[in-house]
Amino acid sequence: MSNKRHSHAQWSSRLIFILAAVGSAVGLGNIWKFPYMTGESGGGAFVLVYLVCIALIGLPILMSEWLLGRIGQKNPISTMDQIAGRLKRSRGWMAIGVAGIAGAWLILSFYSVIGGWALSYIRYAASGTFSGMNSDQVSTLFNDLLASPGVLLAWHSLFMVLVIAVVAAGVTSGLERAAKFLMPALAGLLLIMVGYAATTGSFGEGLAWLFQPDFSRITGEVVLAAMGHAFFTLSLGMGVMMAYGSYLGDDVHLGRTAVTVAVLDTVIALAAGMAIFPVVLANGLDPAAGPGLIFQSLPLAFGNMAGGLFFSVLFFVLLVFAAWTSAMSLLEPIVEWLEEKTPLSRLQAALAAGISAWLLGIAALLSFNAWSGVTIFGRDIFNTLDYLTANIMLPLTGLATIIFVGWVMGRDEVRAQLNLSGGSWKLWRFAARYIAPPAVAIVFIFGVLG
Ligand code: PHE
Ligand code: NA
Repeated sequence: MSNKRHSHAQWSSRLIFILAAVGSAVGLGNIWKFPYMTGESGGGAFVLVYLVCIALIGLPILMSEWLLGRIGQKNPISTMDQIAGRLKRSRGWMAIGVAGIAGAWLILSFYSVIGGWALSYIRYAASGTFSGMNSDQVSTLFNDLLASPGVLLAWHSLFMVLVIAVVAAGVTSGLERAAKFLMPALAGLLLIMVGYAATTGSFGEGLAWLFQPDFSRITGEVVLAAMGHAFFTLSLGMGVMMAYGSYLGDDVHLGRTAVTVAVLDTVIALAAGMAIFPVVLANGLDPAAGPGLIFQSLPLAFGNMAGGLFFSVLFFVLLVFAAWTSAMSLLEPIVEWLEEKTPLSRLQAALAAGISAWLLGIAALLSFNAWSGVTIFGRDIFNTLDYLTANIMLPLTGLATIIFVGWVMGRDEVRAQLNLSGGSWKLWRFAARYIAPPAVAIVFIFGVLG
């Protein structure tokens, strides 16, 4: 039943697909956003809500996106159009693909700005800039970076060039090669960092911070943020996993693979927390420092410890690797769509999508300096892009996706795709119909309005 288009690439193996999907999932979300959100929301309570969201909402939606992509074998817009058409349903379901591609483009714009921060910090780290710095000096370093549009622009541009270069090379020679090299390297670097954190003397404190829930800190906003982050961290609601699924053959078991990817993404986020919080706590730094957490706290710690130069370079290289493989995956659905629906070649498509996202990224980076006064509903441009995508577009697109697979598609087709046996199939079907949709809807309504 796989209606392969001749020009359409396929992942070379299940393992490579897992590496690429984990490469997409593991990114700034795990190493930058998860720790600072956990810090801001008071630790364990946020982590607990997040884990529940991954299991009950993230996992069924991840499987849904892959199965849709695998059936369609095309870009997310055409895939949704084609499946809805075949089922004689409204072509309006195509909106899932449109919103996904739009979301991917919006996220890529500011994602690349942060990727640029990470690149610039490799350079600081390697040149020993952090050495002996006090907390004022590391804050000044970070704030000076944010205050310099030209410097931000240079690093943002370099990051985007790296992303475009890989995606332009194609699925096999670009995405696969990058994932094969970068993901194992990332895992190794992270292990070294956790190992180091374990020697700081505050490892237990760090673990307690991550795993001891203080339920009084759970508010509607925290739950929305945790759910939004579950979508973000698994790369859901943006056509990304759908596009990756479109290169899948029928032999890959979606359920087992989804569990593997979700577990690895979660383990890496928790490991990043375990690498970061002990260092933060051991040095008396503020875990609730926000988006600057890893860019201020860690350099301070690195600058004042034995082997700090080595570990700081490792850490920021790791961060760039993670951001890079995720940014490629953000560009992929846009490029797949342009390549299939316009006369553009893959290189031209990668350039068009990448350069336009790069332009929007300039607006995002100016919100840290020249345009800091420009606000939309009280948020600057950067935070607007972040809030609009993570808290609004991703949940809504994810909700539409799970409703489509749970309620609109025929059960036999879904079951054949998922290839689940009796009990797991019932559980999946129940979660897809009765747990995930109402949960997303309720959290969304209370979080956005409440
Ligand atoms: N999942 C990535 C992360 O955690 C971010 C991302 C979102 C990547 C959406 C692709 C699509 O950083
Ligand atoms: Na992630």
